Amino acid sequence: MNILAIESSCDETSAAVITNGEIRSNVVATQLIHTLYGGVVPELASRAHQQHILPVVDKALNDAKVTKKGLDAIAFTRGPGLLGALLVGTSFAKSMALGLGIPLIEVNHMQAHVLAHFIDDPKPAFPFLCLTVSGGHTQIVKVSSPLEMEIIGETRDDAVGEAFDKTAKLLDLPYPGGPLIDKYAAEGNPDAYAFPLPEMPGLDFSFSGIKTSFMYFLQKQVRENPAFVSENLPDICASIQFTLVNILLKKIKKAARETGIKEIAIAGGVSANSGLRKSLLELGQTLKWNVYIPAFEYCTDNAAMIAIAAHYKYLESDFCDQTVSPLARMDF
Ligand code: KG4
Ligand code: ZN
Repeated sequence: MNILAIESSCDETSAAVITNGEIRSNVVATQLIHTLYGGVVPELASRAHQQHILPVVDKALNDAKVTKKGLDAIAFTRGPGLLGALLVGTSFAKSMALGLGIPLIEVNHMQAHVLAHFIDDPKPAFPFLCLTVSGGHTQIVKVSSPLEMEIIGETRDDAVGEAFDKTAKLLDLPYPGGPLIDKYAAEGNPDAYAFPLPEMPGLDFSFSGIKTSFMYFLQKQVRENPAFVSENLPDICASIQFTLVNILLKKIKKAARETGIKEIAIAGGVSANSGLRKSLLELGQTLKWNVYIPAFEYCTDNAAMIAIAAHYKYLESDFCDQTVSPLARMDF
């Protein structure tokens, strides 16, 4: 059983082929144009998806050695994401499924981030908790089966990836700043500067306060020493990363305590962060958790995760019809 999966929710155009639950190819074209503007420009993203989608799908089929006629279904990201960007993948998938006369499978992008854990071994046992951290979302998800998920905590304002990117922008680092903060943080002292941790009730998060306090901190330091950033970049990055990671760990610890679940996973673009990966593994050892961290290639946006989600939906004959339209916001 061969499924072609397409991802186009933000600034990555990606296609993957999955055969009986095994990923056969995963092609990702990252849109570099947005670096010029310091963030994703929705209209440019849509246009770039239109340019990339055909060659990316062709390469995914060639890499997998699967022909169009050999496909059993087409899957696509329905949402959440940028509407114009989603529209490209959705229209492409719908036309291809219609042309080939095969079923169409819609996939929730955030569910797919979680299911990226089922691409390779070891796989988490049910129920598990997944801290899903990306540029648009920060969620703690309780996962009871591949398609049964419940959000038990989420951000009330910015996503953690946004906090990484916005603090990086204040430091004049190019978009996306998260990986660069991670890189400089490796050589810095995380205790060099302290930032206040937000007080949020329950399992919810807030990242807008830390961004503002970082901005005031930076303005004050630069007033006193105009070369503050260039002289202290690794220490600044290490301190901000330490704070953001601590906010995440505090809540996942609370969620594990309250639910009694010791199977803990992370997913989404920010799960590529080395500070988060290392601290979570250490915390897991102390608290006797089984910790699951996806391979780097399955952390940031990719179609392999859409393909594995589609695989589970195919097994349930969970298909959609040609009237389906993309959704910028989409719940589980
Ligand atoms: O999941 P993703 O690729 O796209 C969305 O669905 O948003 O996540 C992108 C986010 C960006 O904010 C990016 O800065 C962040 O993931 N990111 C990182 C790292 N790699 C990607 N943040 C911190 N450290 C990293 N190594
Ligand atoms: Zn994502």
